[in-house]
Amino acid sequence: MKIAISSDHAGVEYKRALVEFVQELGYFIEDLGPYNEDSVDYPDFAHKLAEKVLSKEADLGIVLCGTGNGVAMAANKHQGIRAGLCWNKEIASLIRQHNDANILALPARFVNVEEAKEIVKAYLETPFEGGRHQRRVDKIACM
Ligand code: RB5
Repeated sequence: MKIAISSDHAGVEYKRALVEFVQELGYFIEDLGPYNEDSVDYPDFAHKLAEKVLSKEADLGIVLCGTGNGVAMAANKHQGIRAGLCWNKEIASLIRQHNDANILALPARFVNVEEAKEIVKAYLETPFEGGRHQRRVDKIACM
């Protein structure tokens, strides 16, 4: 499974730690930037990640900003992207099981790095349940 990751400046430090962690878990991960702490605009990196996932160059995405909200809002503007904001591992499992979330959004300023790793692990290791949840996921899109 191929994972892609991006952030804004608020998430760069956590992104570095998560790239290493995801590799240790045995996945291939592509870091879409940014690569230093200079201030950037979070939508630029959220859109870049959403495009990677939609083009199927990545199976799942991880995105970070200070609250996780800005990047989630931007990513969710793409038809076919289901980005879920998670601050604990239980929610991370549920956005896979119930929502088939293809992007995990993390609030770098509101979880510690160990919590972020737990959340990422739960997100990557939990499958979509399908069934009644597929019917509901199919109703998310606005045509
Ligand atoms: C950057 O200061 C901050 O606004 C950003 O990381 C994010 O929290 C936006 O939603």
